[in-house]
Formats: sequence, C-alpha cells, structure tokens
Amino acid sequence: MFSTAFLDLPPLAGAAGSVQLPGSKSISNRVLLLAALSQGTTEVRDLLASDDTRVMLDALRQLGCGVEESGGGTVRITGLGSPHGARPRSPASLFMGNAGTAMRPLTAALALLGGEYELSGVPRMHERPIGDLVDALRQLGCRIDYLGNDGFPPLRIAHAAGVPPLQLAAPIRVRGDVSSQFLTALLMALPLAARQHDVVIEVVGELISKPYIRITLELLARFGIAVRHERWQRFTIPAGSSFQSPGLIHVEADASSASYFIAAGAIAAGATGQDGIKILGVGLDSIQGDIRFVEAAQAMGARITGGPNWLHIARGQWPLQAIDLDCNHIPDAAMTLAVMALYAQGTTVLRNIASWRVKETDRIAAMAAELRKLGATVKEGLDFIAVTPPASAADWRAAHIHTYDDHRVAMCFSLAAFNPAGLPVRIEDPQCVAKTFPDYFEALFQVAQAQAGSIPVICIDGPTASGKGTVAAAVARALGYHLLDSGALYRITALAASRAGLQIGPADEPRIAELARQLPVRFEGARVWLGDDEVTAAIRTEEAGMNASQVSALPAVRAALLALQHSFRRLPGLVADGRDMGTVIFPQAPLKIFLTASAECRAERRHRQLLSNGVSANIADLRAQLEARDARDSSRSVAPLKPAHDALVLDNSERTIDEIVAQVIAWWQARQPFGA
Ligand code: DC
Repeated sequence: MFSTAFLDLPPLAGAAGSVQLPGSKSISNRVLLLAALSQGTTEVRDLLASDDTRVMLDALRQLGCGVEESGGGTVRITGLGSPHGARPRSPASLFMGNAGTAMRPLTAALALLGGEYELSGVPRMHERPIGDLVDALRQLGCRIDYLGNDGFPPLRIAHAAGVPPLQLAAPIRVRGDVSSQFLTALLMALPLAARQHDVVIEVVGELISKPYIRITLELLARFGIAVRHERWQRFTIPAGSSFQSPGLIHVEADASSASYFIAAGAIAAGATGQDGIKILGVGLDSIQGDIRFVEAAQAMGARITGGPNWLHIARGQWPLQAIDLDCNHIPDAAMTLAVMALYAQGTTVLRNIASWRVKETDRIAAMAAELRKLGATVKEGLDFIAVTPPASAADWRAAHIHTYDDHRVAMCFSLAAFNPAGLPVRIEDPQCVAKTFPDYFEALFQVAQAQAGSIPVICIDGPTASGKGTVAAAVARALGYHLLDSGALYRITALAASRAGLQIGPADEPRIAELARQLPVRFEGARVWLGDDEVTAAIRTEEAGMNASQVSALPAVRAALLALQHSFRRLPGLVADGRDMGTVIFPQAPLKIFLTASAECRAERRHRQLLSNGVSANIADLRAQLEARDARDSSRSVAPLKPAHDALVLDNSERTIDEIVAQVIAWWQARQPFGA
C-alpha cells in the first residue's frame, strides 16, 4: 500500500497481463454470516481482507463460531447451526466498527436467535440509521432497546429467556427506500423463523439498490434458501427453510474494482489482440450489479470476452466512442466511465446519478472539478455529468488530483496517466484506496507499461559515509519509489567472490564478473539475501566495504552489473544511490544529487554508527580508511567517483539528514509540471 502524501504516476504507454482482484465486500460479509448460521463447516476462499470483514470475523468468534484463518483469503467457518437450532454464546458485547454490512444483518440474526447482546460501533456508526430494521423486528415481537439515540446504534437485544413467540402471520413490512441493507438483514435472518410457515416480507416504498438484493438472494440460494419475490416488493421465504452449507464457496472478486482494469484494457495501446488485460476472479456469471459496466465499456469501444469468472479486455474502437447512458444500475462503476470519456470522441453524458452526491463525497462535484484540471470541459447537473475531452493532446494538463478521501476518485483518475500528451498525474492521499483495494496501485503497476525513459529516477551519488544511503531511502519512502542501493551490489559481489574462493583483484576478474552477471540477490526492505542466505550484516562490515571497492574497480564487473541495476527502474519511480548513478547508469535521470561532506565529518559519523552497533573503532584510522577508499573510487579508470556535469552538489557537513531530505524533495517538486 502507498501511504505517501501523494503518488506521481508517470505517463503510461500501454498495459497487458493479468490481475487478480480482491474479493467483493458485499459478498464477503454475507457469506460469513450465512456460514455462521449453517450447520457444519464452510470453507470460504478469496475472502476480502478489510476492516469490515475483520469486524465480522471477530464478532462470529465471540458468538462461538469456529473461525480458522489459513492465510491467502481462506477461512473455515464452523457454523452455530445444529439439529436443535443455532445457539450463539450469550451474553456478548459486539463491536461493529463502521461496518454496516455486519451491524444490520447481525442485529436481525441475533434478535431471532435469542440471548442478550449489545452491538456498538465507532462514533460514525452511531450516526447511521437502523430504526427501520428495528421497527420491523419489533413488529415481530423482538425486544430491542436503543442504548443511545432512538433509531441508531448502539443497541441491546434482550432475549435472556429466549425469543418470545414471533408474529409471523401477517407480512413483515420494511422500508426499502433508505437502505437496502435492512431488507438484506431480514432476508438473511428470517429463514431461522420459517420452519413451520412461509414468512412474507413486504417492502414499503420503492426499493433502491436492487442489485444488492439480488446478491443477497443469490447467496441465500447457495445456502439452500430459495426466496421467491414478486416485482421486488413482496418476498416469500418458504416453510421448511434451513441453512445448508455448500461446503466450499468462493468469494467473487469485486466487480466495481474490475472497472479500472476494464477501462485500462480499453484505453491502453498495446492491449490489443491476445495481449490485453485478463482479470481473474470475476466474470460474466458475476452476481454483482456492477458487472454490467462491461456493457457500458463495450459501448464505448472496448473488446471484451469472458468466462464465468474471468474477463479479457483489449482495445477495440479507438478513439473511444462517447455514450449517453442512464447509470442508475452501475452507480459506482460509472465513475470510471467519466474518466474513459477523456479518451472518447464527442461528449459523454452519464445520467441518473443523483446518488453520487451523497456518497463518500459529492462525487459529481468532485469528478467535475478534477476532470477540468486535466483539460476536459465538464457540465454538471443535479443528477448528471457531461464530459468533453481536451480538444487535442496539446490541451491536456498535468494535474494533481485531489481525492476527497474517496477510494473511487483515486482509482479512476489513475487512468488519466494514459493521456496522449505523455504527462504525469499526481494522485493525492493514495492510501484512501484501502477502503476496498489496499494494493490497487501495485496491481496497476503490474499490468501498466511505461516507456523506460519516462519512469523517473533520482540519483544520489557521493563518497562513502556521506549519508547518501539514508537520504536515498528517506526520499524513496516519501515518494513511494523503489530504491537501488548499488553499493550493496558491489558488496554482495565481493562477498560471493570470496565465498567462492576467488581472489578479489584483476587476476580473477572474468570469474567475478560471471558471478556478478548471475547474482541471485534479493532485497526486502533493509534486508538482503544472496540465494537462501541472509547477508544483511555480512556485507556491512568495513572489510566488506573495502572488498567492494576493489571489485568495483574491475571494468568487467561493472559491465556485468549494468542490466541488474537498470532492472530497478520500475513504476512508479526509482531513487538510486551509489557512485556513478548520475554519470554512467542513469545519465538521463531528471534529478541528480551529489552528496558530500568533509572527511572529518564522515569519519565521525562512521565512528558513531560503529559504536552504536557495539563495534569499537579509532576515528583517525577510520578517516584514513575512507580517504583511501575515496582515492581508489575517484581515480579508477572506469566510472570514477565524481559529480555528473548536471548534478546538484549538496554538502551535508553542517546539516541534518532531515534537512537534506527536505532539500532533495523540494528540488524534485520544483521540477514537476503540476500546477498549484
Ligand atoms: O556505497 P557503498 O559504501 O556501499 O559502496 C561500496 C563500494 O562499492 C564503494 O567503495 C565503491 C563501490 N561502488 C561503486 O563503484 N559504484 C557504485 N555505484 C556504488 C558503489
């Protein structure tokens, strides 16, 4: 996950490959509850890992369900059901966080199962209505009290002596025009009361969000409950219903999340023919309403094929075709269409999207404002948005996209990085995607391709102990970029050579170069592996530094490490530190820093560093050693240590690391094209 203040996406040229998307939140929590109400064990695969599913799993554990998490999204739930009915552990006090998909259905289920429970959540949860559901349950005879404000959590279910006789003769009436979750909660809980007689639910008012009720009915069917309905107004749970575990159930990937990759496939050059983008985990048999985004993308020109649980997307018509569409059936995924409109001929009009105004943010206003920053002409109304793309490539603007703490704004605007003008796009607060897709940008970078030259590299070169490693790591962290510690590669090569019994010098140059060319090296944060061996500490000794300096003077070794160093230049960017990053390895890098400090100052720092690692040393010796190393590094014939002609020289003898890092980032910012 990117937890930086902003993430700069370099211009993207193409996209191809496959992506596995995270599980659907709506399906995940429904499946968990249904498994909990069943008898026996259900293995749930591909469960979404998020705050909301965590809350549900914790609650089920507290209620006495068996919950066995085996990693990789697989959870085995042993349900509460038994031939004599389900018996959750009571009394219990359950914390629901901000998960509406846990709060509402658990309230209904526990009210019908009996026992004493308190259900509460975060302050925002105590502002989210639940009165219509409580009213419906009270009609049945359930005893539910409000512990705070009437109509809102926290709640107490007070059935210490068991569930009172339920009033099931008349239809249960529930409002359908506030939240479809009330109806979902009743549909999932009332089969518990439908042993002898049919149970009928009547919706009062127009039912909103029918696609979500469809998901509920589909999942109930997989757990053996066949609900009938008449025009989405009257639902009948047949007598004799009981929850039957399907044994194994897969959670579909999130169809709304799929929309970004469908769009990328439709937009990105290179995504043609067999190449294109393959989405795994959700497909044409999806039970999620947003799968109909596929039709809208096809109407704009995407070429889409698919199977039950996969989709393949390639560029079809180009430029895309503008559409005029009622988006009521795909409110979330439709935001992606507004960004696809940037690549269409004509004006795209998305209608019947009034619900956008009351989501995570006012999405109509947000989309309009951010699309305009990119150069589009946008008209907005109470319930529509009309987007006309920039007239030509020259009319696109490099924009910093404000994301309004709205995961979908962040994800859909990443698609602007495919712009024909070759401009980067800045996404502010990229971690807001965690709501539904924590690794969204990683997934995007897995399929997106950039021209190598357009992936930014910041070079930080300098002599030993100048602080460049620390500065480079901090800059990489702040920007969300990859890090190349090229000195480590020479250190590892020297270590591998001495372990192989080679002489660290010209005599064994070809054999050391051979080792370097196939170096089985792996970095994980600050840790380093050579094959299966962790060598993090072994390469940091003074001796290892000296040996590295020796092997680095061998031209064949330097040549052998070239390709490996270039391979670190990956999306979204790279910070590279060493001696010749700016002069030899990345001569076209857009920012080069040469970091230096007086020998005295560097010797003192190295001394402190050694002491803190419990190694005693003498400052004068250290200074002599590092001056000797500098002399060798600077005087060698290949890639000698020196500032690139276009490097900015920064002397940090008198400055703290934080000041240096701030200076490098300020220089970097000043070179970006984003307006204020
Ligand atoms: O930065 P460091 O101390 O880990 O580097 C160890 C040695 O590797 C250094 O003395 C010279 C060599 N080196 C190099 O020649 N070129 C680089 N880009 C990085 C390091």
